[in-house]
Amino acid sequence: MQTAERLSKIPPYLFMTLRNKINEARARGVDVISLAIGDPVEATPGNVVEALAKASRDKANHRYPTDEEWGMAAFREAVARWYSRRYHVALDPEKEIVALIGSKEGCHHFALGVINPGDLVLVTDPGYPGYKPSIWFVGAVPHPVPMKGENNFLPDLDAIPADVAKRATAFYLNYPNNPTGAVATPGFLADLVAFARNYNIAVCYDNPYSEVVFGVDRRSFLNADGAKEVGVELNSLSKPYNMTGWRIGMACGNPDIVKAMATSKANTDSGVFNAIQYAAIEALDNCDDFIVEMLHIYGQRREKVLATLRDLGWRYEPPAGTFYLWTPVPEGFSSSEFCDFVFEKTAVVLAPGAAYGTNGEGYVRFSLTVEDEQLDEALRRMRNNIEGLAFAT
Ligand SMILES: Cc1ncc(COP(=O)(O)O)c(C=O)c1O
Repeated sequence: MQTAERLSKIPPYLFMTLRNKINEARARGVDVISLAIGDPVEATPGNVVEALAKASRDKANHRYPTDEEWGMAAFREAVARWYSRRYHVALDPEKEIVALIGSKEGCHHFALGVINPGDLVLVTDPGYPGYKPSIWFVGAVPHPVPMKGENNFLPDLDAIPADVAKRATAFYLNYPNNPTGAVATPGFLADLVAFARNYNIAVCYDNPYSEVVFGVDRRSFLNADGAKEVGVELNSLSKPYNMTGWRIGMACGNPDIVKAMATSKANTDSGVFNAIQYAAIEALDNCDDFIVEMLHIYGQRREKVLATLRDLGWRYEPPAGTFYLWTPVPEGFSSSEFCDFVFEKTAVVLAPGAAYGTNGEGYVRFSLTVEDEQLDEALRRMRNNIEGLAFAT
């Protein structure tokens, strides 16, 4: 059977590969603990589950959610209230917000709505593995923009060659950053807007970790003056409200891009189940305290992992964002060799940095979305079974 050539470019999805490795080891009776995947284990807030239950009993919600193709007006208004309250960003629910089936889906509709075949598209390296397939699917060409530790994992916009910037039509990036945990500064966001304006580049600012920050202010791309002229921000209920399985998010910002994405979506899916949109309204309006509780849990886990890493010889100051820790690997290992080494010694699974791009080589990613008991056990195994690691000074 013929399958489309575009699929041939796509490497096996990192987490599928890891899942296979985990399942295969579990089938052999190994007690595997995965610190690889960023998928909260705690439950969605109870009031959100109740809101879904209530809305799902109303037969009006059993029909296509297509009356309001951009998402229910009530949902878009709740998104506008949330952005106003949490980020001091004003959004017009009529023109500047479209509901998404998660921010991953938004990356795809941004490509379908904005990018032409053959376009050059800037994408950070390392970066979220979802971006490149979206770019390939529309026949465009990703161009990696390095993110280096010495620049706090922010792209050096001045180092992008002018001929590349002139040819580029779009830029995918994400802060608080998966995988590095880096956060964007207001200065960087201002520079990004100026860069995008200067070269006429549409920005896809993917911000699903906007709420997951430690000791620094929450920040939206749309806080930067002029951001709405050059791009959109994708956001999501997945990470702040433990709703990865619910599949709901939003694209906000530039009205032309929002409209283009809505047109792409209207011709692809039929929107998000209205009952889920009602539940999302409950989350956006009434769960600020839940986020505080989750950040407290992640903060404690962060400290535990950092203490173990310090005792094993790492000297590592983590950036302030996300529920990931992106640490340099010890000397003598590539990122996947180190993951294999840790797995062999402890049956703990980490994500190899190289899977996130060439510049991810030399790093591994720990995720803090695992039960406390499991994390304690993983760290106990690492302390007991790993020794003699050497680190560059
Ligand atoms: C940077 C980034 N963007 C998008 C997503 C997908 O989020 P959603 O569940 O909203 O589709 C993830 C998930 O891990 C992510 O890390």
